[in-house]
Amino acid sequence: MLFVKSLTTYYGPIKILKSVSLHLKEGEIVTVIGANGAGKTTLLKTIAGILPPKKGELVFLNQKINHFSPPQRLKLGLSLCPEGRKLFPELSVKDNILLGAFLNQDKKQVEATFQHLLASFPILEKLLNRKAKSLSGGEQQIVALCRALMSDPKLLLLDEPSLGLSPLLTKEILKTILKLNREKNLSVLLVEQNARAALRICHRAYVLETGRIVLEGSGQDLLNHPEVKEAYLGKGYQEVWERE
Ligand SMILES: Nc1ncnc2c1ncn2[C@@H]1O[C@H](COP(=O)(O)OP(=O)(O)OP(=O)(O)O)[C@@H](O)[C@H]1O
Ligand SMILES: [Mg+2]
Repeated sequence: MLFVKSLTTYYGPIKILKSVSLHLKEGEIVTVIGANGAGKTTLLKTIAGILPPKKGELVFLNQKINHFSPPQRLKLGLSLCPEGRKLFPELSVKDNILLGAFLNQDKKQVEATFQHLLASFPILEKLLNRKAKSLSGGEQQIVALCRALMSDPKLLLLDEPSLGLSPLLTKEILKTILKLNREKNLSVLLVEQNARAALRICHRAYVLETGRIVLEGSGQDLLNHPEVKEAYLGKGYQEVWERE
């Protein structure tokens, strides 16, 4: 479904992604783990079309999309849920969510998707008229996720959904991703600092270190990999996952 081939991206003169290659098959959850500053967000932004790659190729659904604009990519089914939510603080929750369907002229279809999301996330009902800035971090994350889902994507690019959330809420969000994957066959490219959680729910994973892919394998393989254990699966806030 997605092929990233030898992708190189710069910020000004600084090379951030250094010939990154990865792929994702339809129906897969693929995760990219890596330390702060490794280039995970840069990777998702390049795939979504927000940053132009200097070199390399992006192929989505058998089409080369290097020169497609972000809206063109969205139209093809690539939707980004950005790091830090990036909601419009003064807009209502409902308007923030509906913005995710800005390309869709079919009002009936937009309403149907919206109603479906309301049914899937009952917590939204009582939040719809609140300004986004008045929501808790977890509530904002759900709104950001719903906005990204309003375009009915084939592939969701999900950047750090657990940022700033408690382990329990992180688990809820990741369970939701898993459910969307299983029930709707939604493919997901997931970037997560909470490596243990991400490796548990993914089909396959890549480790990104200072702009390079240094390891890849199934989630289980990487959970057992000594270097991954050492570098990314420390104790601390992730312990809640161990007690299950
Ligand atoms: N707008 C920018 N201008 C210049 N450099 C940037 C910009 N955004 C990111 N960088 C740099 O690019 C590198 C990769 O950043 P990126 O945000 O992709 O990392 P990340 O893996 O997502 O980290 P985190 O886990 O902290 O979100 C970092 O060194 C960062 O300082
Ligand atoms: Mg990031």
